[in-house]
Amino acid sequence: MTEADIVLESREGRVAILTLNQPKVLNALNAAVMGEIVRRTAALDRDPDVGAILIAGSDKAFAAGADIKEMEDRSAMELMLADWLSDWEALERVRTPMVAAVSGFALGGGCELAMMCDVIVAADTAKFGQPEIKLGVIPGMGGSQRLTRAVGKYKAMDMILTGRIIDAAEAERIGLVSRLVPAEQLMDEALGVARTIAGFSKPATLAAKEATNRAFEVGLREGLLHERRIFHALFAGGDQKEGMAAFREKRPPVFRHG
Ligand code: CAA
Repeated sequence: MTEADIVLESREGRVAILTLNQPKVLNALNAAVMGEIVRRTAALDRDPDVGAILIAGSDKAFAAGADIKEMEDRSAMELMLADWLSDWEALERVRTPMVAAVSGFALGGGCELAMMCDVIVAADTAKFGQPEIKLGVIPGMGGSQRLTRAVGKYKAMDMILTGRIIDAAEAERIGLVSRLVPAEQLMDEALGVARTIAGFSKPATLAAKEATNRAFEVGLREGLLHERRIFHALFAGGDQKEGMAAFREKRPPVFRHG
């Protein structure tokens, strides 16, 4: 398997699909996989013909975490000097909406990768967890921060301190999952979400993602002002005129993504 094969890439119209392709090791996230995902998402983000990025794994595992065997013998200094895992922060700079299609295990870094996406569609077989505590460590790809923001302190503490793995129904109930579907419908549903997003005006979806993420970064007043200014700015593009004209004329809009 070449490095390019560890993450497969395909297109469905304006949706780019990245599939983690190391099912035998439950898509453990090693440095090569991290590099491929970071490189490909950055390139797709710059492609005007891509309106949404879908990230999927295999039936048994979206991803079972960072590669334990790769990390095991590293020293603290080595990790610190390389700022190990910091490359994942590049995903925060991806402006194109990202959808995770989660089947089976999404553990540790796998759960954290799903949480770096903007919408999480889960199969009823999905299992989420931050089991790092059982390995003598803690989440290292944002779990303590993103999980807490997603589900609140008490569910996050339960998962992070006990390593408890939750099923898809509980994940949906606590707000970690956007949509829950039977396993056989996972890819249809996730693709449907991605297609819907990609069909809208790209400036509007980028703005919607940016404004929503702002809620996690700044206070309410700043966030509201930022949202309102972006709302104003969208009136400079043709898609706003088209969207509103189409509503008035009772026809579907034809967005030109500008
Ligand atoms: N790293 C490296 N290899 C992994 C792995 C991981 N995170 N998860 C699974 N694998 C490998 C196994 O070693 C095994 O490979 P071999 O056949 O060569 O031994 C293969 O994938 C299949 O796994 P299992 O035989 O263990 O499958 P199972 O069905 O019996 O168990 C499981 C599934 C419960 C998910 C179990 O594999 C498991 O507990 N995996 C580790 C989960 C974990 O601790 N994740 C957190 C990692 S640390 C982290 O992610 C830090 C961070 O925040 C960045």
